[in-house]
Amino acid sequence: MSRRNVASEDQEPDAKRAKSSSCTVAAAAPASLGISRGCGYWQDPVQGMASSRHEFGEHGGVNMSIEASATFTVMEAETLGKLFAGELGPDMDFYIYSRHFNPTVLNLSRQIAAMEAAEAAYCTSSGMAAISSVLLQLCSHGDHIVASSRLYGGTHALLSHFLPRTSNITTTFLDLDTFDDHAHVNTIVRAAFTPSTKVLYFETISNPTLCVADIPLLASIGHDMGAIVVVDNTFSPIILSPIRLGADVVIHSVSKYISGGADVIAGAVCGPASLINSMMNLHQGALLLLGPTMNPKVAFDISERLPHLPLRMKEHCNRALFYATHLKKLGLKVIYPGLEEHPQHSLLKRMANTGYGYGGMLALDLGSKEKAYKLIQYLQNNVQFGLMAVSLGYYDTLMSCPGSSTSSELSEEQQQETGISPGLVRMSIGYSGTMEQRWSQLYEALTHMGLLSSSSSAERRIKVGSRRRTLNDRHLHPRVNLCLSSSGRLR
Ligand SMILES: Cc1ncc(COP(=O)(O)O)c(C=O)c1O
Repeated sequence: MSRRNVASEDQEPDAKRAKSSSCTVAAAAPASLGISRGCGYWQDPVQGMASSRHEFGEHGGVNMSIEASATFTVMEAETLGKLFAGELGPDMDFYIYSRHFNPTVLNLSRQIAAMEAAEAAYCTSSGMAAISSVLLQLCSHGDHIVASSRLYGGTHALLSHFLPRTSNITTTFLDLDTFDDHAHVNTIVRAAFTPSTKVLYFETISNPTLCVADIPLLASIGHDMGAIVVVDNTFSPIILSPIRLGADVVIHSVSKYISGGADVIAGAVCGPASLINSMMNLHQGALLLLGPTMNPKVAFDISERLPHLPLRMKEHCNRALFYATHLKKLGLKVIYPGLEEHPQHSLLKRMANTGYGYGGMLALDLGSKEKAYKLIQYLQNNVQFGLMAVSLGYYDTLMSCPGSSTSSELSEEQQQETGISPGLVRMSIGYSGTMEQRWSQLYEALTHMGLLSSSSSAERRIKVGSRRRTLNDRHLHPRVNLCLSSSGRLR
C-alpha cells in the first residue's frame, strides 16, 4: 500500500518520496533493483516463500494490486532523467516503463527468488525467453557453452543451431548425468572447457529421460573452470533448490508446475542481483533490449498459485511414485527417479528438500512407437486416464511421445545416444480423480493392449491409503463417460 494519487494536492514531491519511501526492499538488495532477499535464514522453499514480503493491494486487499500500466508518471521533469541515469529505481518505488521493471511482475519475481533462495529474480514471457536471454547476457559473440546433452528439445535446438548461426556461440554437449565415477566426470567435463567457455548448462531432472544431475559436483567443476553454472529447474520446483546446491542461476519454465493451469506461457530467471540488474540495463540488458516481458496480469495469476505449489508438487510426486512402483511390479520398463533402481535415486535423495517427493514425471518405455501411440490414445479416448498433450505440471495427466514431439529437434542418432527410444511415453502425472480410479483406468489400458504378463494379475489389487480393493470391482471401475465428436476427438 505504498501509492498515493498522483493528481491529489497532497502529492509528495519525488525527492521526498525517494527519501521517505516505505517501500519494499531489504537493505541488502542493491540500489535500482528492489529485490528482497526475504527475512531470516533460508531453510526450505516453503519457509523461504513465507518469509518474503507480503504485498497488499492498494486498498488494503489481501492480494497485491495489478499495476497494468505500460508507463509511469513522475512529479518533476528532472526525475525522469534520474530514472534513466539509474539514480532512482524500483527499490525506491520509482518505475519507468513496463518492459523495464513492473511492480506486479517484480512482486512475483521476489516470491520466486525467495522460493529459489536466490538474491534476485525476474519473470519473462516464456521459459525459452528466460533461457535465451540469460545465455545472451552471459555470452558474447564467439563464446562457448558446455551443456548436458539431455536437454529439452527447444533448448537443444537453441544451443546447437540458433546461437551458432546468429552469434557464433557454440556448445559442447556432454552426457553429464550418467557418470558414476567422480574422477571420470572431472576429467571429461574439464576437458570440454575452452578459454572461451562462459556457461555450464544443465537441467536438474532431464526432459524427457529423467536423469538427475549432480548439482554440487557440476557446480564445483564449473566454478573451478571459471564458468557461470546455469540450471533449468522446470521439472523439480520445490523439490530441488539448485542455488543452495551451488548453482549460480536457475531458470524456470513457469508455464509448467509453477503455473499448474496449462493456461499461460511464462518463465523466470533467478540468480545474483548483479545479473538481474545487468539484464535490465538500459544499454546492454537482454531482458530490456530483447523485450521478453511478462504481462502484469499473468504475474498476478501466477502469484496467486505460488503458495499452493508445494502442496501440488507433493501430490504430483505421491501419485507418480505410486504408479511407478506398481508399473514396475507389473514388469513394465518404467523410468522414475523415486524408484530405488533409478541410477541417480540416492543422489536425488541426498539433494532433495525433505518431504516433497521425487518428481511428478515418469517415463514408460514400450519398445516401439506404434505401441506407445496406441497406449496413449487408448488412455485418453477409451479410459480417460489423461490427455495426449505436450507440457507438464497440469492437474490432469499429460502424455506424449518425446521422440516425435518435444525432442524431435534431436536427430535420430542424438535421440538414441540420450536414451530417447521411439517407444518412450512421457507422463506428467496429474492429481485429478481418485488414485484408485486412475490406477484402474491405467490398468485397464495396459490389459487391453496386452502389455501385462499373466503373472501380473496380483497387481490388480492395490492398496491406496489403508484400503485394499480389487480394481475390477464395479465401484472402482466407473464407466468411462466420453463425449466424442464424429471425428473421434474429445469434446
Ligand atoms: C525443461 C524445459 N525447459 C524449458 C522449456 C521452455 O519453456 P516455455 O515453453 O515456457 O518456453 C520447456 C518446455 O517444455 C522445458 O520442458
